[in-house]
Amino acid sequence: MPPSHETDPQDAAQGMAKGLTNYGDRGFSLFLRKAFIKGAGYTDGALDRPVVGIANTGSAYNPCHGNAPQLIEAVKRGVMLAGGLPMDFPTISVHESFSQPTSMYLRNLMSMDTEEMIRAQPMDAVVLIGGCDKTVPAQLMGAASAGIPAIQLITGSMLTGSHRSERVGACTDCRRYWGRFRAEEIDAQEIADVNNQLVASVGTCSVMGTASTMACIAEALGMTVPGGASPPAVTADRIRVAEQTGTQAVQIARERLTIDKVLTAKAFENAMRVLLAIGGSTNGIVHLTAIAGRLGFEVDLKALDRMGRETPVLLDLKPSGDHYMEDFHHAGGMATLLRELKPLLHLDALTVTGRTLGEEIERAGPGFPQDVVRTRANPIYPQGGIAVLQGNLAPGGAIIKQSAANPLLMEHEGRAVVFENAADMAERIDSPDLDVTADDILVLKNIGPKGAPGMPEAGYIPIPLKLAKAGVKDIVRISDGRMSGTAFGTIVLHVTPEAAVGGPLAHVRSGDRIRLSVKERALELLVAPQELARRAAERPVMPPTAERGYRKLFLQTVTQADQGVDFDFLRAPQTQARVPSGK
Ligand code: FES
Ligand code: MG
Repeated sequence: MPPSHETDPQDAAQGMAKGLTNYGDRGFSLFLRKAFIKGAGYTDGALDRPVVGIANTGSAYNPCHGNAPQLIEAVKRGVMLAGGLPMDFPTISVHESFSQPTSMYLRNLMSMDTEEMIRAQPMDAVVLIGGCDKTVPAQLMGAASAGIPAIQLITGSMLTGSHRSERVGACTDCRRYWGRFRAEEIDAQEIADVNNQLVASVGTCSVMGTASTMACIAEALGMTVPGGASPPAVTADRIRVAEQTGTQAVQIARERLTIDKVLTAKAFENAMRVLLAIGGSTNGIVHLTAIAGRLGFEVDLKALDRMGRETPVLLDLKPSGDHYMEDFHHAGGMATLLRELKPLLHLDALTVTGRTLGEEIERAGPGFPQDVVRTRANPIYPQGGIAVLQGNLAPGGAIIKQSAANPLLMEHEGRAVVFENAADMAERIDSPDLDVTADDILVLKNIGPKGAPGMPEAGYIPIPLKLAKAGVKDIVRISDGRMSGTAFGTIVLHVTPEAAVGGPLAHVRSGDRIRLSVKERALELLVAPQELARRAAERPVMPPTAERGYRKLFLQTVTQADQGVDFDFLRAPQTQARVPSGK
């Protein structure tokens, strides 16, 4: 199977340089590939075109990608209309709810699969079909490392459902209803009824969770066609985006618009700006760090925090606001948001259309009255959704989604109630004997990158049952884990270094006092350094290991949150600028 460029001797040499397999001499290699692909009924005419690979992540285990067959059909149509040859191929698919021990554990594996399949198979460009939380980051990481022209196609959000006339959607409402059930506000029949309504169609979670965040980020990075982030999965708009994506894929193949020309420092800064302005998932930071790391860019969390102070949250979507992704789409999608953010963006950043982000904003035309994207003068929240904390409890940083936190708890000092790991928490959190009040701070250790492993979304520590029953809705919570982008509360996450590698978090004990000041960006353990050193000597931490397999690779090579939880050997040498530049 020849990539089209092998018909040109100079390009064929490039193909070899890319490491394309050659069986004997080049002529025989081409002869052999053609012979095999002709077994599927292709003619020479079909093979003499730009080849567009399509990464198919459809899977019965992944309802978020349930429209993959329709998308692939539309991408193929677009590719063929533009004179290319579409070739779909399978890769790993990762769904949030069906990935043990956690989807994050598999993200890097999916990125390796994506990278190596792009490298292994002849293709001049690749369309990446992703949607569920970890899939888009995995695909962008893999494609960034593979280095060929690439374009992202988002599967799109699910529709919202309706429960007793109330609009509901996964999965902020999942948590809310489950919280009400735990507090005995609703009965078993009602919680069973709502279970049928939370996911009303195929597609990704309809609130500003990680999937929606990564969709918006992919468009802000310039990696999708304009308007590629917001159309719901089952709409005609989504299918049209797929067709356009196929057409554009042929274009980037012809122009050799490789991914490094799109994923520049400016593109990453635009994406960070958008992450902050949409009140995006905290996971977005980890994923952006990992994608940037594949191209040699290091993320500067302090500069990101400074950027946050001057970036208001404009998008009124749950969990920070009121609407769902389909409303954002009806309000004009990313064009509406980008138009409002324009003074804060690098308008000269190149996108996969070959035009700049600024040109695409112009082409989208004027805005119209709507109530989903606010103006900068009237934001949902005056600062960026995410604040970066520092202090002796988190020397490498920690984050809090301040837009989803309780303002009354953001300046808080309290007594630590410590859980050593997820199992310890599960065992004790609902015990009537748990010594806890609403003023305490819940601390959960060992759910970081190596601790659990895979940094599960267990940072959303439930309210202890006895407090929940007493009507407590929020309490300060701290961990080295992540939380779902659809969760809300005063929750400190990504404490770095994690407990499992001996970070200070490992040595917190129940009864210690902790101070959180979001205003000062501080997270302090009010325990003397000598006492902490004594505890560390008394109970030294042994990082976890595994005997064999992927788990062994994972535990040996996974990095901390500030490096994107990528494997160390997959990151590029950090030779580029730090992003954001802070300017
Ligand atoms: Fe796939 Fe939420 S479970 S996006
Ligand atoms: Mg999620």
